[in-house]
Amino acid sequence: MSNPPEYANLMETLVALCKRRGFVFPSSEIYGGLNGFFDYGPLGAELKKNIRDCWWNDMVRRREDIVGIETSIIMHPKVWEASGHVAGFTDPLVDCKASKQRFRADQLFFAPVIVDDAVVGYVSALESDRTAGELQEAAENFKRKRAIQGKLAPVQPRDMTEAKPEEIPLIPSPATGEPGSLTPPRAFNMMFETQVGALRDASSTAYLRPETAQGMFADFKNVVDTGRVKLPFGIAQIGKSFRNEITPRNFIFRSREFEQMEMEYFIHEDADWAKCHREWIDWCKGWLLSIGLPESHLSEYDHPREKLAFYSKGTTDIMFKYPFGVQELWGIAARGNYDLSQHAKFSGKPIEYFDEATKKKFTPHVIEPAVGVDRIFLAVLCAAYAEEAVTDDKGNTEMRVVLRLSPRVAPVKVAVLPLLKNKPELVARAQDLHRRLKRKFAVFYDEGGAIGRRYRRQDEIGTPWCVTIDFDTIEKDGTFTLRERDSMQQRRIREEELFALLEDRVF
Ligand code: GAP
Repeated sequence: MSNPPEYANLMETLVALCKRRGFVFPSSEIYGGLNGFFDYGPLGAELKKNIRDCWWNDMVRRREDIVGIETSIIMHPKVWEASGHVAGFTDPLVDCKASKQRFRADQLFFAPVIVDDAVVGYVSALESDRTAGELQEAAENFKRKRAIQGKLAPVQPRDMTEAKPEEIPLIPSPATGEPGSLTPPRAFNMMFETQVGALRDASSTAYLRPETAQGMFADFKNVVDTGRVKLPFGIAQIGKSFRNEITPRNFIFRSREFEQMEMEYFIHEDADWAKCHREWIDWCKGWLLSIGLPESHLSEYDHPREKLAFYSKGTTDIMFKYPFGVQELWGIAARGNYDLSQHAKFSGKPIEYFDEATKKKFTPHVIEPAVGVDRIFLAVLCAAYAEEAVTDDKGNTEMRVVLRLSPRVAPVKVAVLPLLKNKPELVARAQDLHRRLKRKFAVFYDEGGAIGRRYRRQDEIGTPWCVTIDFDTIEKDGTFTLRERDSMQQRRIREEELFALLEDRVF
């Protein structure tokens, strides 16, 4: 029996589980995959849909002040000029001319090697949770290999955006270990370009949207004119976004095609934006808890004022403790009236709201909670994964892998298991129950193998409950054995109780 992986080393185990059980596959794997793109398998598609459905139900259907829309992925290119994406949606890029590899300048760190107050060379390392340690080791190796005598100063890491022009030729490429091949950082626009129509010139250039948010701003007037909405109100959308990330990484955490769930909450220009911002941070946190993320893994990060865009009043990220570090999960931004004003300016059409009370027109301000479905998916799996030793009735101990998923997001809600597959009366009763349950819930029917093995298979994919149809079911009172995933406790349950339990816990 091997030891369960430490949380910090969980990713390899999780990626393997996702592949083995059909949650996530590399995209186009038969052709070697495509970096930054992923496919969701049968269980992954269910889990992802459940995350989307929970968000849509809680954010849109169960509220009176928010409506949902679905806008096109390719929009008029002027949208992206107005939003600032054409000019400014860039990451700093460094090329390695020798290896042809590309690095994000703010993720490539370097340090001068200083011995007895003199710079004797440079070392570099890609960002990790121990960048400074790696650079220190590299500096020690540098000094030892060249037999340099003297006292090595502790390294002072900087990233490539901070490199002076004269330092760049001296910094080794992480790809080759040799200096001389890195270019100075340049701005790289992350929008994917495409052409609309048969003509291929500048006038036909369009973009795959890098965020869903602009759809809500561009349609603001249409929604106000048709949706009978009154301030404060929100427009929400779920959909794919595309970013040509220089370094997609950490599995589905940062990919080039991903899905966003964004909501623009429009408020009066004189409203207390800070209060509203805080309420949305709390709402988002509460929602994450409701789908099973543990509070201990969540924290908040307030963007420093000096790093905010000029129009931004404040941005707070809800951070999640992933195995590879604490990272942004959900950004909640107070964006003033910048977006609506920009679209009014670029389209030449006023975008305003008429206040019945004051009989005045104004441009509403907005609070924007924006989150990635894939990042929630990964957070949910990281928090749910467990390995534990279990001992059966005969005293045999084995390791079980269990995904402690909330019933709200679990891909399969209940597995229906006839105790024996060669007893037609048990099989018929189990199939009958399965038929009735699957009209409403995602259920799984399994008659193959020993019952203990069948439980383990369901534990590994996070199924919260298994029901076993045994001889008592058909010969006595019609009850089934209900087995709970986390406690592994078993109890007898009637069919109507089972339906009531599911109704109560899965939506
Ligand atoms: N409209 C605001 C906006 O798009 P963002 O912080 O760039 O803000 C919002 O993105 C959320 O989208 C992030 O908090 C993250 O959850 C998700 N996201 C952004 N880039 C992503 C990527 N490359 N891969 C997966 N998710 C991403």
